[in-house]
Amino acid sequence: MFKTLDNFNGLEEYLLKFGLNEHTIQKEIREFTDLQYSSRAINQISPDQASLIQFIIKFSNIQNCLEIGTFTGYSAITMALALPENGSVTSIDNDKDIFEVAKKFWNKVKQGQKIDFILSDGNEALDNLIHEKRNFELIFIDADKQNYKNYFLKSLQLMSKDGILIIDNTLWKGKVFDFKFQDDQTKYIRDFNQFVKNSKLVESMILPVADGMTICRKI
Ligand SMILES: C[S@@+](CC[C@H](N)C(=O)[O-])C[C@H]1O[C@@H](n2cnc3c(N)ncnc32)[C@H](O)[C@@H]1O
Repeated sequence: MFKTLDNFNGLEEYLLKFGLNEHTIQKEIREFTDLQYSSRAINQISPDQASLIQFIIKFSNIQNCLEIGTFTGYSAITMALALPENGSVTSIDNDKDIFEVAKKFWNKVKQGQKIDFILSDGNEALDNLIHEKRNFELIFIDADKQNYKNYFLKSLQLMSKDGILIIDNTLWKGKVFDFKFQDDQTKYIRDFNQFVKNSKLVESMILPVADGMTICRKI
């Protein structure tokens, strides 16, 4: 039997206090986003996801990461903080205004210098990176659900065996397993989860962290 906690009152505060160590710049971005973007703030990864990603980066000695979906820069700085000094994060987003916000925060810490931003549509940016024969050890997909399958397949072309691919929101607020929900976004993610499950290209699991996070290892 699975033993997933409900989002009890007080759980978040307890985790922030005892479950993880959030850097001051992460806290600053998270609180700014909560305040300024209220309903969109849910877009940023949660601190426990951030800690898990950092753990994976450190444990696997990862040096370069790619993400699709920058938003206010929380996940990019999360990765940059965990990387070694010569590490790099390439972050793609198609929203210039949001980049200006992220850049202001990244500039506040030296680790922000590890982040390269690409202003572009996700598919176009990935095609260019494939064309340039770039290679990443960890790729984080967190934008534009209808393109998850494309991003997944393109990302795999950008990594070697044992590369780590992480995809956010794969439980989609529980709607993926509640079949009364038949909206497009839910169907895209349901379809994507089935696709990953059947894929012979990766070993994968969905972690019930935050809104669901799929972790894959390229085989
Ligand atoms: C869920 S947010 C990313 C959150 C970020 N990873 C974090 O944790 O702070 C999704 C972002 O994807 C961007 N986006 C949406 N569609 C896109 C597309 N087709 N190409 C590139 N970026 C896109 C949006 O502008 C938005 O900033």
